[in-house]
Amino acid sequence: MSTTFTIDSSTSRATPVSAPMKRVTVPAVRKRKGAEPLVMLTAYTVRNAQLFDPHCDLLLVGDSLGQVIYGLPSTVPVTLEMMAAHGAAVVRGSYHAMVVIDMPFGSYEASPEKAFESAAWLLKQTGAAAVKLEGGAAMAPTVKFLVDRGIPVMGHVGLTPQAVNMLGGYGARGRTQEEAAKIIDDGQAIDRAGAFAMVVEGVVEPIAIELTRTVECVTIGIGASAHCDGQVLVAEDMLGLFERTPRFVKRYGDMASFVSGCAEAYADEVRSRAFPGPAQTYQPK
Ligand code: KIV
Repeated sequence: MSTTFTIDSSTSRATPVSAPMKRVTVPAVRKRKGAEPLVMLTAYTVRNAQLFDPHCDLLLVGDSLGQVIYGLPSTVPVTLEMMAAHGAAVVRGSYHAMVVIDMPFGSYEASPEKAFESAAWLLKQTGAAAVKLEGGAAMAPTVKFLVDRGIPVMGHVGLTPQAVNMLGGYGARGRTQEEAAKIIDDGQAIDRAGAFAMVVEGVVEPIAIELTRTVECVTIGIGASAHCDGQVLVAEDMLGLFERTPRFVKRYGDMASFVSGCAEAYADEVRSRAFPGPAQTYQPK
């Protein structure tokens, strides 16, 4: 279902430039706890942001761009500069959805102060409204430090891709009781620290149920069942741009076939001189 927008052309000191429409805010996201599920998609480019914005409550500039856009082997090599460039494009391409930007590996773990410096820089460079960072109880003091200083934080627990070198892969988490208890504990710690939302990734269903029931913030699931306050997918997975996707992904299109079919038709027409034709050719007046 598409969201209906109200055009806001008024200005004030708080909004010095007329805004085409009001963006979703942190309090509005919080209010969706237990209500209509929140819709979030990743976006890395201005065009995808424009196309997704009317349908989404939140757009996530995910560090998954390292793999999806740059062909990197994991999210570990992603830099703050990469996040800033794509984050600014997504903000430029959207008017309605809240834009959340991932803090890349190495930009926040060392100390709360380092995290604040990185997060503030990202928000200034991009105009995004909030940052997302991975990790559980160990990151709770950092989440509190940022929130106390005015930076909204979305947590990320369960399967945390930046920890792939520790986890050894991208398999679902929480299959043992001990691991399940740790993930629930992690989520609750991030919640107590003041996160307004948390991504719950790649966990067995009972963990999603328990976390969503026990935390005050909204949970946004990816591979975490329907029992969350919202859902997120990597947009290119959802669009079918890759032949292989994780089991939890539903492909709503077949972009890989579409794009490669267009490239094949173009190549055939260039080689046979069918393109460019009269309609694409300039003639003197
Ligand atoms: O980087 C990303 O795209 C993410 C989503 C998978 C939640 O963190």
